[in-house]
Amino acid sequence: VEYETILVEQRGRVGWITLNRPQALNALNGTVSEEVADAASGFDADDGIGAIVVTGSEKAFAAGADIKEMESKTAEEMIATDHFGAWTRFAAVRTPVIAAVSGYALGGGCELAMMCDIILAADTAVFGQPEVNLGVIPGMGGTQRLIRAVGYYKAAELILSGRRVKADEAERIGLVSRMVPASDLLDEATRLAETIASKSLPSVYAAKATLDAAMETSLADGLAVEKREFAALFDTADQKEGMAAFREKRPPRFQHR
Ligand code: HXC
Repeated sequence: VEYETILVEQRGRVGWITLNRPQALNALNGTVSEEVADAASGFDADDGIGAIVVTGSEKAFAAGADIKEMESKTAEEMIATDHFGAWTRFAAVRTPVIAAVSGYALGGGCELAMMCDIILAADTAVFGQPEVNLGVIPGMGGTQRLIRAVGYYKAAELILSGRRVKADEAERIGLVSRMVPASDLLDEATRLAETIASKSLPSVYAAKATLDAAMETSLADGLAVEKREFAALFDTADQKEGMAAFREKRPPRFQHR
């Protein structure tokens, strides 16, 4: 498939999606959201892919939703067209997604990173939800996911003031999984993605499903999901292989690699 605003590549068992609108600092317009959702769904449907990396440029992961595209919209249009609906599809993929963030991750860019399962940040990364400066609020999940990531008082301060945080603070408050030197970002993302993609695919899907449940439900409901997912894995060849390999003191040979 030829895309207009993203670069898409498969390297081994890892699918790469690189945002590519340098003239707008990767601002997320309708085309970007459709293309990212389409590429991610395509990778998700392919059992030759065990992890997805989403990244931007050195200067910007993404500087937000496209302000110029949104400026003249009415509430009616926002509702009728489900303006950010493609991102719901993106957030629903079963394959683990790593955001490799360098430079600006603002507004929708920060929210896109938070739709991913793991956020690796270059030491140059800058996060923020500056929507209050524009007369709006975060609209791609930021008001909900930021609180779950960093807790109420940090999230409230950032969303209400629009203050930006640099990578080291983002790491300290739990907005990123790990900070790395900018020059190592893509190598680290590759290593991490390959590690995840080398595991048993059904167990990785199940792990992601339970992590999602933890974000979305009560403790009791989440534990019920965990119990079900855990039990179901005992019907997979990979579980038999993984445990036999442990007993026989050898590396496992999982089904999908
Ligand atoms: C459209 C954008 C953009 C955006 C940057 N550009 N961000 N276009 N939407 N979100 C464009 C600029 O207009 C400019 O185009 C080009 O990219 C380069 O940007 P500069 O501002 O010249 O770069 P710089 O001076 O380095 O400043 C970088 C920046 C700044 C600090 C990131 O661009 C900025 O503040 N951007 C907006 C950040 C923001 O408010 N994001 C939240 C968006 S709202 P031209 O053609 O002029 O050269 C949002 C809500 C999501 O995300 C949920 C739904 C409501």
